[in-house]
Amino acid sequence: MYGSPVHVACIMDGNGRWAKQRGLPRTAGHTAGEENLAAVVRSAVRLGIDHLTVFGFSTENWVRPRQEVRHILGLHKKLFGRVAELNELNVRVRWIGRPFDDPAARTPRYVQRAIAKAIRDTEANTGMTLTVAFDYGSRTEIAHAAETLRRAGRDITVEAIDSALYEPDLPSVDVLVRTSGETRVSNFLLWQAHGAAISFASAAWPDYSADDLRAAVDLALTSRDQHR
Ligand code: FPP
Repeated sequence: MYGSPVHVACIMDGNGRWAKQRGLPRTAGHTAGEENLAAVVRSAVRLGIDHLTVFGFSTENWVRPRQEVRHILGLHKKLFGRVAELNELNVRVRWIGRPFDDPAARTPRYVQRAIAKAIRDTEANTGMTLTVAFDYGSRTEIAHAAETLRRAGRDITVEAIDSALYEPDLPSVDVLVRTSGETRVSNFLLWQAHGAAISFASAAWPDYSADDLRAAVDLALTSRDQHR
């Protein structure tokens, strides 16, 4: 739709602050964040975005209070369970993160099953690809790729690393969004985001809107035109 595929990647920050401002527990912010993600997926489809990748849970997030971790895991089950909605939108689901058989991986079985089912039940869809990063860290991903190549006795080139990432088909990121006024990069898609525009939004993730998303896509397209 935009001449070549557009890939938007979101660091969904500020759920906790959103809740605090309303006198609510942090978990309520995450619940609102998951609901807004479903709305953002609908907006992304309407805007003709080809790839939407979101940072759902990082390799570092396991140290959060146990009750908060449990709540976020439950929300992933809910998100991956939205198969009927995703099929209606013709959205295909993918996942990136530490392989479940990695000795350091901690993803519980019920989340593993929800991820596998969502991937299976949406794989025939031909519209937007929604990739959820769960138990994901970009530096771990790059180290894993290099280690895979080393074990296979392969040279470590840019192309070889590309081919050994968790999801080699994931295209380069056009625009990296971070919400909640946080002007930092994160441990998210560091390899894939080379040359990406960065869109810092002041809204907390639960308030991130279709207009914010459109502004991010416009930024990506403008900077792509300027650097062609
Ligand atoms: C940041 O808010 C968000 C996360 C730690 C990830 C969890 C994201 C969601 C639950 C929303 C999307 C849902 C799914 C299932 C992918 P924060 O807690 O860091 O906020 P704060 O910086 O205000 O404390």
